[in-house]
Amino acid sequence: MELPFAESYKMKMVEPIRRSTRMEREQWISSANYNLFNLKSDQVFIDLLTDSGTGAMSDRQWAAMMLGDESYAGASSYYNLKNAIEKIFGFPYFLPTHQGRAAENVLFSTLVKQSDIVPGNSHFDTTKGHIEFRKATAVDCTIDEAFDIDSPHLFKGDIDLEKLENVLRAHPRESIPFIIVTVTCNSSGGQPVSMKNMREVYAMALQYGIPVCFDSARFAENAYFIKLREEGYRDKSIKEIVSEMYTYADMTTMSSKKDGIVNMGGFIGLRSEELFRRASTFNIMFEGYITYGGMSGRDMNALATGLDEGTEFEYLETRIRQVEYLGNLLISYGIPIQKPIGGHAVFVDAKAFLPKIKQEEYVAQTLAIELYKEAGVRGVEIGTLLADRDPLTRENRYPGLELLRLAIPRRVYTNNHMDVVAAGLKNVWDRRNEITRGYNIAWEAPIMRHFTVVLEKTK
Ligand code: F0G
Repeated sequence: MELPFAESYKMKMVEPIRRSTRMEREQWISSANYNLFNLKSDQVFIDLLTDSGTGAMSDRQWAAMMLGDESYAGASSYYNLKNAIEKIFGFPYFLPTHQGRAAENVLFSTLVKQSDIVPGNSHFDTTKGHIEFRKATAVDCTIDEAFDIDSPHLFKGDIDLEKLENVLRAHPRESIPFIIVTVTCNSSGGQPVSMKNMREVYAMALQYGIPVCFDSARFAENAYFIKLREEGYRDKSIKEIVSEMYTYADMTTMSSKKDGIVNMGGFIGLRSEELFRRASTFNIMFEGYITYGGMSGRDMNALATGLDEGTEFEYLETRIRQVEYLGNLLISYGIPIQKPIGGHAVFVDAKAFLPKIKQEEYVAQTLAIELYKEAGVRGVEIGTLLADRDPLTRENRYPGLELLRLAIPRRVYTNNHMDVVAAGLKNVWDRRNEITRGYNIAWEAPIMRHFTVVLEKTK
């Protein structure tokens, strides 16, 4: 008999979680103004809101925490992290920040000015936020297949070279500070970018004299997909693949809360000393002195170890197979999800799931609320609420896809939990025709509204 697959770790510490009743959840979500961000964590049984900062650290990472050096300047933890970043990504310069958006804030303060254009593949919302906040424009050049939920394309995070070249041709070089390549591409469903595409984007960027910046939040998951799906990489280690990926980038912003497997942290990686000097000033102003940025010494130590563990094949195989396990269960129930299944999350097609709810009534949010009420599972809307309003016209931006994202924290839940999530969603699926009312916005913030929005049921 062939031995079944099992996790590449065992557990040494656990945290109790509690089931609740449907009646409790109905009341909690109503008091939370139908915004899942307002729920208290003990009102949630299985929390798939995000895979960001929610992972479980290893014994090696906890051991590294104890060796943290909290010196203001020149801490050994800073040098541990500096060495790890240089070894894994090849960047000789780096600046620690408290998380990914802080890295964006510091780097974009250095490079992005009013009226600039930043082309890329479905920029993450904080990335876009930091571009638009500076009155610049993010232009999405992702391939069209990314928006076709059933397209079997293996690298739906790829940049469309023709779209990119059109942008590069249409604007002067000085108004394009960099091209951003998000690996994996969160906003298009945790979909990877191929090595071939990275190589081609970099070659085009070089030709136009424009630098390339990687948004590296889930770089290791991207490398895993390259190993499995792209010709010529099957026999390469994840670390070898990562090394090659970063020969096609001049700089990076990183949210370490994902593939760094830490609960807080981020950094900027750079090749240019001149840029490092300029960015350092902003880092000192916004984050902290250059040898700690937004991080404590112990956290930098844990991250140095996390980057090493996070680029090991066995770890990534365990992680991504769990995401696939949930996705395949949903497929077996006939539930429409994005295919191929992404690296960090399963994305449910809410428009196909709830065809009776209009897009103006926030269909993916409606599905997220139904799943919470059904099973105490918290997912997140990746749809019209998140897409926000056009900064100029203030009209709702309606994205092509309305998705419910079920993001899976690293090393936290078992496949039994995945069974509960899938059964909960199946129960909602079975009564989908009875769900006919969505939600209206009663109040929203002028930017990044999804975090604080107040919703009410439509009449
Ligand atoms: N880039 C990508 C691709 C991300 O997914 C995120 C965060 C960030 C940048 C910003 O990093 O949160 O450390 O400031 N994504 C989280 C998520 C919040 O749930 O997908 P941060």
